[in-house]
Amino acid sequence: MQTVRQLSDLRDAVSGFRGAGERIAFVPTMGALHDGHMALVAAAKLAGQRVVVSIFVNPKQFGPNEDLAKYPRKEQADSRMLADAGVDLLWVPPVEVMYPDGHSTNISVSGVSEPLDGAARPGHFDGVATVVAKLFNQVKPDIVLFGEKDFQQLAVIRRMVADLDFDIEVRGVPTQRDDDGLALSSRNVYLPAEERAAAVALPRALGVVAKAIEKGEDAEAALAAARASLEAAGFEIDYVELADAETLGAPVADKPRRLLAAARIAGTRLIDNIAID
Ligand code: PAF
Repeated sequence: MQTVRQLSDLRDAVSGFRGAGERIAFVPTMGALHDGHMALVAAAKLAGQRVVVSIFVNPKQFGPNEDLAKYPRKEQADSRMLADAGVDLLWVPPVEVMYPDGHSTNISVSGVSEPLDGAARPGHFDGVATVVAKLFNQVKPDIVLFGEKDFQQLAVIRRMVADLDFDIEVRGVPTQRDDDGLALSSRNVYLPAEERAAAVALPRALGVVAKAIEKGEDAEAALAAARASLEAAGFEIDYVELADAETLGAPVADKPRRLLAAARIAGTRLIDNIAID
């Protein structure tokens, strides 16, 4: 695996792949890799002849009171995992390469980025859309893979790709979970043992609501019961909502729906979501 930190080196490597007519599959990450990321890499290996992964902890998607400074950074271990998985190229831009002095362009995807995490984390999706658009222009992938765990992020990227005519296929990869059902996340390492055990209440509550809605029970009552059960388990809730799976707005009859939640336990913000059949 080749590791590059300068745009000129990335461009040389990408031109080599494209010149040979190879299809590039790309997985953008912020590092601190776990099996969820490795599932994206495995899907990328199947989708492209060349796999490019980026590691960049993007300051623009962290709010002033969020965990940018303490976000886990494990480049050496990440690099070993990616090399073992057969990744061809690792792109690790320093912050001054990604955002040189004078950088002033911001990408804002209205609508889909506004509710839920958009409301709870102002500016977060502008930061995500801006860095992802830059990464797409840098890596020039044919196909990109994102985890469904960040379901609203995936919807924002799909909207941006359509709106800005990126000639890129966006694929969502199902959420990877621990044995007890907790969605894998780089932030799970922050959880002390007791709260880690309690955190399983989040996927369980979503499962209970999904079953109730699928059985035709009242959605609002099921959501209220889920909120109460999460509070009883020690969570502070940002939202537990049923939404339209494409726009993330209010659910619409006969369109796919998604159940999404964000809540904090021991100061760590966890998100999760599941499809409603
Ligand atoms: O999902 C992530 O890890 C980040 O939001 C992404 C897509 C790499 C952009 O910084």
